[in-house]
Amino acid sequence: MPSQFNFFIFLMCGIVGYIGGRDAYPFLINGLKRLEYRGYDSAGIALLNNTLNVYKKAGKVSELEEFVADKDIHGTVGIGHTRWATHGEPNDRNAHPHISQDGTLAIIHNGIIENYASIKEALITKGHTFSSDTDTEVLIHFIEDIRDNAKVELEEAVRLALNEVVGAYAIAIISKNHPNLLIAARKGSPLVVGVGNDGAYFIASDATPIIEYTRNVIYLEDREIAVIQDQKLVIKNINDNKVKKNPYIEKLNLSIESIEKGGFENFMLKEIYEQPRSILDSMRGRINTKNGTFQMSGLREYEHKFINAKRIIIVACGTSWHAGLVAEYLFEDFARIPVEVEYASEFRYRNPVVGEDDIVIAISQSGETADTLAAIELAKSKGAMIFGICNVVGSSIPRMTHAGAYTHAGPEIGVASTKAFTAQVTVLTLIALHIAQLRGKIADKDLRRFFGELETIPSKVEKALLSNDLIIKIAEHFKDAQNFLYLGRGYCFPVALEGALKLKEISYIHAEGYPAAEMKHGPIALIDENMPVVVIATEGANYEKVVSNIQEVKARKGRIIAIVSEGDVKIKAMAEYVIEIPHTEDCMVPLLATIPLQLLSYHIAIMRGCNVDQPRNLAKSVTVE
Ligand code: F6R
Repeated sequence: MPSQFNFFIFLMCGIVGYIGGRDAYPFLINGLKRLEYRGYDSAGIALLNNTLNVYKKAGKVSELEEFVADKDIHGTVGIGHTRWATHGEPNDRNAHPHISQDGTLAIIHNGIIENYASIKEALITKGHTFSSDTDTEVLIHFIEDIRDNAKVELEEAVRLALNEVVGAYAIAIISKNHPNLLIAARKGSPLVVGVGNDGAYFIASDATPIIEYTRNVIYLEDREIAVIQDQKLVIKNINDNKVKKNPYIEKLNLSIESIEKGGFENFMLKEIYEQPRSILDSMRGRINTKNGTFQMSGLREYEHKFINAKRIIIVACGTSWHAGLVAEYLFEDFARIPVEVEYASEFRYRNPVVGEDDIVIAISQSGETADTLAAIELAKSKGAMIFGICNVVGSSIPRMTHAGAYTHAGPEIGVASTKAFTAQVTVLTLIALHIAQLRGKIADKDLRRFFGELETIPSKVEKALLSNDLIIKIAEHFKDAQNFLYLGRGYCFPVALEGALKLKEISYIHAEGYPAAEMKHGPIALIDENMPVVVIATEGANYEKVVSNIQEVKARKGRIIAIVSEGDVKIKAMAEYVIEIPHTEDCMVPLLATIPLQLLSYHIAIMRGCNVDQPRNLAKSVTVE
């Protein structure tokens, strides 16, 4: 049994489906809105109501909603899709659902079919014609072809086709000729089945659309096919067709409030402001400052591996990679274990040297990032122990890893990662300190001091959030800048990278994060009176060095916005703006310094009229490579 982090208990497109006694449309449209964070360049639905009605539209789910306002939206079986384009530009034609040549089958698909081109070619020679550029349309034609030529039932045709395709998928199919049937399957892309108490079944890419209807869910495993017919669900293995006996029904304990905006204008701001609580939740029940003890059920069984580890390799992407960089400093600083931090996408394709003495830590908010999953598979095949750090319960990473820890930050809906990052860093700090203790590299009194300081972080984050009004002023001042530079050293270097990433992804301003001292090896040439330079310049080991770096920027007329420790006077005299954060240990500065940087990007993006929750070209979780 895979680890699932020894625990009770989340791209690309979003998919939903319903089969039951009521109209499917309300569930489908609301579900697509909940899943819009996964992709939002087009949306569509298919409904069975004697005929197969397919409606699809480029743009947001709200545009689809307007489009169908005067259409027949009745039907007790239906599927819906919100898309993040992989094959084919985002337009009405390429939107899902796609239909078979004979018009009887409709499919929605999250993932990518890598060998679609050769299948398409073969189908074209057989007379198939295609009305989109997608791999998904090829898949449904392929299924149809098998059904008709092998003269098998639809379910069997789906299974046979899936055995031929290369790639990742979560799919759902309905058929005009089978008004009581919905077929869903997954490999590599997530899929949850909700079990209603009135014989209805729901499917979705994650549990958020389902919880208003039922709390009983089944997470499909990779290579499983769910056949829902006449109020019965049967799950089978795609390879050998074996029926799964007594599939495990989980009880969801997500609250509806946790997936709604709760009075905030958008999810990103809500999630920024949730951080005092999410950081607390990520440590809850794990540390006891009084006696300096620590527990993490997912770690216990593998502590000896960490104690004896020759090396830790961290694999992740984007913001999670930045959390991994903080972890490098933490593990080397405290536990004295050498650490390498790898982009999962690079690691997976270069023949890395990994062995049984290595521990690989995979960090991911969604638990579904394709490159991170592939990096895990590769490291596993080379004998390394894999430890996952993940936010979404029931996602792929907890299933694939030997052990791990959830971050408990709660659902993160805004595409730009905020609270997931600080929760990841908190959990990694806990683990690094604990391993340092196990390896005898930290004195008990120091450990207690660090654990005690960690417990103050939620209230210090609250204090850091109080700079919001000042940050709005700074944002007004710099919102039209074309470029930004972010500088930091030591623990603050990953913070600089994260600050720059946040700004680019939601405001579309070009930004670079750099180690402050490295600036003079190139980027200093960019500095002039138009360049805002955000410097993380908190007290600590590197303070004086960063002060010198600020002087270098000032000498070239760069505009300094500095994140400083409360009460700093030296930098105040040098910078155009200073944002103060509470004092803390050097190693915990990332947890506080990130907060004003999130707010700065947020306000600049809002002032530039950008959609912060759904920035262009991005998806919350990248389930294709
Ligand atoms: C940035 C962001 C992305 C993700 C990256 C990894 O705000 O959200 O860079 O951090 O796509 O995603 P996960 O953590 O889900 O593996």
